Amino acid sequence: MRSLLPGILCLALVSCNTSPQNKKQTMSPTEEAMETGQDPHSYAKSNARVSHLNWIASVDFEAKQISAEAQWDITSEAGATDIFFDIYDLEIDSILVDGERVNYALSPMDHHLGQGLRIPIKETSKQVVIHYRTGDDARALQWLDPEQTADKSHPFLFTQSQAILARSWVPTQDSPGIRFTYNAKVSVPKDMIALMSASNPMERADDGTYKFEMPQAIPSYLLAMAVGNVRFEAISERTGVYAEPSLLDTSAYEFADLEKMVQAAEELYGPYAWGRYDLIVLPPSFPFGGMENPRLTFATPTILAGDRSLVSLVAHELAHSWSGNLVTNATWDDFWLNEGFTVYFEHRIMEAVYGREYSEMLASLTRDGLQEAAAEMLKEMPNDTKLKLDLEGRNPDDGVTSIPYDKGYFFLRLMEETVGRERFDEFLKNYFQGHKFEVMTTEEFISYLKENLLSEEEYASVRIDEWIYETGIPSNLPEVPSDRFAAVSAIVTSFMAEGELPSADVSNAWTTHEWLHFINSLPADISKEQLGVLDGAYGLSASGNSEISAAWFQPTIAAAYEPVYSKVESFLISVGRRKFLTPTYRALLDAGQEQMAKDIYAKARPNYHAVSRETMDALLGWE
Ligand code: BES
Ligand code: ZN
Repeated sequence: MRSLLPGILCLALVSCNTSPQNKKQTMSPTEEAMETGQDPHSYAKSNARVSHLNWIASVDFEAKQISAEAQWDITSEAGATDIFFDIYDLEIDSILVDGERVNYALSPMDHHLGQGLRIPIKETSKQVVIHYRTGDDARALQWLDPEQTADKSHPFLFTQSQAILARSWVPTQDSPGIRFTYNAKVSVPKDMIALMSASNPMERADDGTYKFEMPQAIPSYLLAMAVGNVRFEAISERTGVYAEPSLLDTSAYEFADLEKMVQAAEELYGPYAWGRYDLIVLPPSFPFGGMENPRLTFATPTILAGDRSLVSLVAHELAHSWSGNLVTNATWDDFWLNEGFTVYFEHRIMEAVYGREYSEMLASLTRDGLQEAAAEMLKEMPNDTKLKLDLEGRNPDDGVTSIPYDKGYFFLRLMEETVGRERFDEFLKNYFQGHKFEVMTTEEFISYLKENLLSEEEYASVRIDEWIYETGIPSNLPEVPSDRFAAVSAIVTSFMAEGELPSADVSNAWTTHEWLHFINSLPADISKEQLGVLDGAYGLSASGNSEISAAWFQPTIAAAYEPVYSKVESFLISVGRRKFLTPTYRALLDAGQEQMAKDIYAKARPNYHAVSRETMDALLGWE
């Protein structure tokens, strides 16, 4: 169902170039209905595809606009008459095919997908050049004023393209199943540095012009750029960190184990394919913990705990250099292939670098979180608890839940436990190396499993189809025993029963993960007085660790423990990381504090990225 005859469907809303009265080429777009391609979240069709991008752009902080030229090399099959792109709120100035200006058509605006862009080509066409500017509603971009940064001296710009937001800053075939290489030349104000998901400068250029190369093919959700007053510090020969000057040393300290992590990952599943591996610490409004942009992971500053206790996030983003960036989910319905594999790989890197006891604490937190989330989701949206999702007609962001991540993780862990680590590691290594720079569907993965790993009995005992295609968490969910967590649970029990707390040397030796388990294990009926005792003993409301703060907000908000409110407010105003925002605002709503939630949101909203705003607007009924 595609290529609905443009001549018939032309709606003549703008100016209709195919109508007989309009023979002269006006270069203004036709509006016509368009169907999506194989990927329900992209208008791109498989018979005409992009292969390489040369992007020439200039970043204007005053106008909050990028003006650019996207020069696309294309390849097409015999008989192709058009090539389709995705755009969102882009102002197109002109389009040339092999140097000749052409007319083009746009589909009506769809809230999630934006617009399809149809450009007529010949079978022999080699290049499409699109001159354009980004709009005010460019959803990938966040333009920050100096006050929203760590140093408060320069503005900042960063992009977030996953899942389908690349189209709001580059006209592209925005499907994870379509890959291309790219070069870029970007001009920015002279006192700023531009960085991309590509080869990057280590120093500021006096003329404000930067050139980038990404010779490995990537899907467009991995296109990324950050522009700000950042500096670089090396961690090892091939790893390093970019941050604003005031955060640079702290960041280099926090990520000191980066090289060890890369080595551990390579030992597990084969060579790192991307050259350098660097991190950039972004301002706190970054809506995610991390984003696996190739060669340059984007990270939230909320992982700078000062004690390296939150670096599993770096292991996660690094792991994506194999799972996701090398072998990529074909569509967002197969998202668990990216994230479940990555959580599995993340735990394996953590185990290799910090030991099994440590990584099993992480796995135990993951398991508790999964069970809680799945129980909630089964009430409202049971179908989203399947590993294989059905996101057609929806925002692919709806699929970003614990399911692809943590149900995916436990599914892989179950297979590891079933066949043994040696066989499983061999299998995974071959999977990554045998499918690098390719896409993978859930169904192809299942066939690959049958052919390369599981016997019929093993396949049946894992209950593959139940894990992938059925709702909820199968009863063969692996257990994660942790003696250290068991000791913490016993302390919670005796505190609730007798009001007793252990001596300081016990709690002083706790890691962040034991604190998280402690807070998560507090029973729902804990009183505000009891919370006050814990706060007095351990200073939890004053914690500088973002994960501990966010966990602590749950029982304290539920019990209306007022001393935490000012901390909740300042946290929600300064941090834009959605993983923290959603549970904290929800806790306020559940505790009957709707007014407080809305008052805080009114102050905080201007600081949030569009991705977080979209979720919080819906949660809080914001209009
Ligand atoms: N790729 C994701 C972030 C993402 C997913 C952005 C879907 C947009 C759509 C990234 O790797 C991720 O999973 N980040 C997590 C980190 C965590 C699981 C350690 C996050 O941001 O919290
Ligand atoms: Zn991830």
